[in-house]
Formats: sequence, structure tokens, C-alpha cells
Amino acid sequence: MRERQNVQLEGKHILLGITGSIAAYKAAVLCRMFKSAGAEVKVLMTPAAKAFITPLTMATLSKNPIAVEFYNPENGDWHSHISLGEWADLYIIAPATANTLAKMAAGIADNLLLTTYLSARCPVAVAPAMDCDMFAHTATQANIATLKERGVLILESPEGELASGLHGKGRMAEPEAIAAAVGEMFAAAEKKKSLQGKHFIVTAGATCEAIDPVRFITNGSTGKMGYAIAEELAARGARTTLISGPTALAAPCGTQRIDVMSAEEMYRASIEAFADADGAVMCAAVADYTPAEVSPVKIKKGEGDLVMRFTRTHDIAAELGKIKGGRLLAGFALESDNETANAEKKLHSKNFDFIVLNSLRDAGAGFGHDTNKITIIDRSSHEELPLMSKRNAAAAIVDKIEQLIK
Ligand code: CTP
Repeated sequence: MRERQNVQLEGKHILLGITGSIAAYKAAVLCRMFKSAGAEVKVLMTPAAKAFITPLTMATLSKNPIAVEFYNPENGDWHSHISLGEWADLYIIAPATANTLAKMAAGIADNLLLTTYLSARCPVAVAPAMDCDMFAHTATQANIATLKERGVLILESPEGELASGLHGKGRMAEPEAIAAAVGEMFAAAEKKKSLQGKHFIVTAGATCEAIDPVRFITNGSTGKMGYAIAEELAARGARTTLISGPTALAAPCGTQRIDVMSAEEMYRASIEAFADADGAVMCAAVADYTPAEVSPVKIKKGEGDLVMRFTRTHDIAAELGKIKGGRLLAGFALESDNETANAEKKLHSKNFDFIVLNSLRDAGAGFGHDTNKITIIDRSSHEELPLMSKRNAAAAIVDKIEQLIK
């Protein structure tokens, strides 16, 4: 009978890589935990790892033959790193030595464990294990940072007693902590498909209102918040149309971007895309006024002041609010005073289902920052969130969308 586990890994294919570290004995416990949680496990070892734990132990626990070399010298049987990488839903290297982390960061492929890393298409995780001085070395930290940047999940080394007798950071994370993190990773991946079949539009960035062929009026919105929301919606499986003013940002993976300049262009694109959408998130900082006349030639300076007349643009959010029916509509309010009252007024006047309030008085919130401090206000509740990355703020906003469209 299978042991009771909190972590659910039923049917998952886990490729466990073991490198030459004294912590290799923990890989045996980890392998058992994965098996008990319902996963199928295959084990890869570096030649150095065999000095710390035997292939026999790992083969017995994983119930699969162990691969160390590129081929079996007895019968020439080829161990395909490609098919191992394709088989796996997760490739986890635990323990991962400083040497292996460095080779992974540099793309060196001098053993089967590393060639499999380079060809794996599945998520990859590493649990570093080494002495505290090696762990703290700039080279190791830079290698870990590089791998993290490339999307490798780093299972953090806790502080504690090390095999060398020293005390510090560098020991391998405990198998329980690793198994829990792996369980969370799979749960998060499943959550990501939660908006499959839905279509959302997101407006983002600033609009540019032309004065003449070389001048325009705009504002400081960088589009970061809207892009983060579009990215999150797409990651959860939604078809995502991102209607964006000019920005330096790249279109997030999986989104369809429509580039616009003026409020009028954003209005037209939004009305068109909303026709078959399940909802819209209005993040753009849209100009409320546009020059009444655009000069076809560059305006020359004169002696006196320049007086210009402006006309009102469409309030895109309010227009969508009028036609939304049962669809979801969310907006933003960037306020400098009377924040909550102003946001609530916009919630009602634009027929939003919820509004995300940013206060210019909060440090780290608003235009340009990578962080945001938001309050999510709907018709019956206020949820004030702490300062967080725009990515996490986007996840909280998309969680709210999911709650409301169910
Ligand atoms: N919005 C819009 N079209 C506009 C103006 C605003 O879609 N022409 C949307 C924004 O994307 C945001 C919400 O309406 O989701 C509130 O925008 P904000 O600029 O805070 O409010 P305004 O309605 O422009 O009011 P004011 O500038 O007077 O505060």
C-alpha cells in the first residue's frame, strides 16, 4: 500500500539527476517521496555521483535502470538524452554541485546528465549542495542567477551544519521541502490552464495625441502593468488581445498585440476586439483630450504664447461598460487624492465589475516601477494588497477575474 502524502504527483514523470555531493544520500529519500506521491521516477547520475550513492540503491528505489554513461559498454545500448528529456514532466537535479551548476550555466555537455539538461523541454529544477564558501563565491552565485533568469527553479539552500563541519548556507534543501515545492509547481502549472477557451482584451501604455507631424502629447505610462496582466492571462490559457500604445516592451509570449497611437485608434481597436471577448481589462493611460486640430506641417514658433484648443476623446472604458452585458470589465484608477472615493465613482460610472486603485502617494506604485501597491475594489469589498512585483499584482488581478467569471 502507498504511504499517505500531502504532495500529489500522480502519473507525473520525474527525471532525477544526481551529482557528486555528500548530499546524494538525500536523493534516495527524495526518490522514495516522489514514488510514494504517485510519480514515475527515472534516475540519471554523473560518474562522480556513483562514489556517493550506488546505482543499485537508486535503481531499487526508482524501479528503473540508472543511466550514467551515454551508452552501456557491455552491449552498446544507447542512452538517449533526447528521449529522457522528452519523457520527463520535470527534470530535477538534486543534489547539484557547484561544478554542475557552472557547466549548466555555460552550456557544457560532458556527461549524460548535462546533455539531457541541454535538450530537456520540460521545467528544470536544481537543489544546490556544497560547502558554504563555494556557495557564497561570486562565480557560483552568478551561475545560480543565470540559471534562475533562464527559468530554472532554484530550490534554495537553507542555512545549517555542513559536511565539512562548517555552519552556513550551501546544504541541500531537505527532501520534504523539495517534494512540497515540486507539488506546488505542478499545481501552479495546472492552474495556468484555468482560462482556456476565454478571450480577453487588455489596453496598456500611454496614448499619443499628435499636435503636428513631429510633436505629440502623451504621459508617463510605460505599459508594464498592462503587459504583466496580458502575460498572466495568456499563461493561464486565455486568448489575449493586447491593445497597446507605444512602449519599449516586447509583446508577452502568447498574446496578440495591436499597436495604436492615439486614443481614437485605441477606441476603435477596443470596440472591434471586444465583440467576441469574454472580458476586458482597461489598463491604458488614455488621453482625455486631444488637440482639436492637427497641423499638417511643423508649427513654427511665434512671438507670443501658443494657445491650443482640445476636444474630448472617447472614454473607452465607459463605452465598453455600456455594451458589456454579462461580460467582465475591469479598470484602473491612478489617484493622487481622495483615492477610494474617486475609484468608487469610476467603478460605478464606467460599469466596471472591479477597479484596481493605485495611489500616487504610495512609494513604489504607479508608472514606471516594477512594483505596485494595489487595492482591488468591487461593488461589495475592498482588498488592500501589500507592495509587490507587478507580476504578482497581475496574478492577484487575474485571480479576481477568475473568481468573477465563474
Ligand atoms: N479610461 C479609458 N478611456 C479614457 C480614459 C480612461 O478607457 N479615455 C480607462 C482607463 O484605462 C482606466 C479607467 O478608465 O481603466 C480610469 O482612468 P483614469 O484616467 O483614472 O480616469 P478618467 O476617467 O480619465 O478620469 P480623471 O482623469 O478625471 O481622473
